[in-house]
Amino acid sequence: MSGGRVKIGIDGLDQMMGGGLVPGSIAAIIGSYGTGKTSFALQFLWDGVQLGEHTIYISLEEREDRIFEYMAQKGWNYKPFLNKLITVLKLDPSDFNLAINRIKNELPELIRTVGAIRVVIDPISLFEDLFESNSLRRQEMFRFVEGLRDQQCTVVMTSETDRDNPYASRHNLIEYLCDTVIILRYVRPDDLSDVHLALEVVKMRLSSHSREIKPYEILQDKILVHSEANVF
Ligand SMILES: Nc1ncnc2c1ncn2[C@@H]1O[C@H](COP(=O)(O)OP(=O)(O)O)[C@@H](O)[C@H]1O
Ligand SMILES: [Mg+2]
Repeated sequence: MSGGRVKIGIDGLDQMMGGGLVPGSIAAIIGSYGTGKTSFALQFLWDGVQLGEHTIYISLEEREDRIFEYMAQKGWNYKPFLNKLITVLKLDPSDFNLAINRIKNELPELIRTVGAIRVVIDPISLFEDLFESNSLRRQEMFRFVEGLRDQQCTVVMTSETDRDNPYASRHNLIEYLCDTVIILRYVRPDDLSDVHLALEVVKMRLSSHSREIKPYEILQDKILVHSEANVF
């Protein structure tokens, strides 16, 4: 923590949020595939591990071994922390009842048992897909997020974007439920020169934050936010 904030561990981004996430808050990182959601989420986890915090990574997309591969690629010595400070759990969203049950009922229990300070759900959009109707999804997600609020941990959930709107999550829901919303997106200049990545903090409850749009790069071992540069 820095100045009472929970850092994501990405310099420029933490600065944009006044030092990091508010402890106990719930953040959404929204972006289309390949924008770096998993990389951001892992960085948040690893920052906690380095502080000796217990962390949980719920993966609905990538298998456990892929998650570990990511960490190894980044040069993180994660192995001594496995099943100690790092708990990774892959849920199969194709088994509807099991996935819903485990997320709804077992996750709060797991957070308590592990004493998790940081929790990642990547991506929550695959969980949201499971509900049969919009009204059921809204009702269940509201309950789920409120349940997370009763815990002591800070949560980062990622989501795919809405097909037609890069500023909205796939189901147009978590941006309202979460305290903080970070948007990751591609910027394609009109002249069809290089595609860039840009991020912005569009919402942060109970805190002031930067509204600037900053370019970033995903490097082998870290995420680099170009704080000095402007996209527009
Ligand atoms: N270790 C790495 N070194 C360099 N680039 C990487 C590395 N990991 C991921 N990337 C780049 O970041 C992109 C986004 O990765 P990822 O975090 O999986 O995005 P998302 O979860 O949004 O789909 C990848 O397509 C790749 O271009
Ligand atoms: Mg991902």
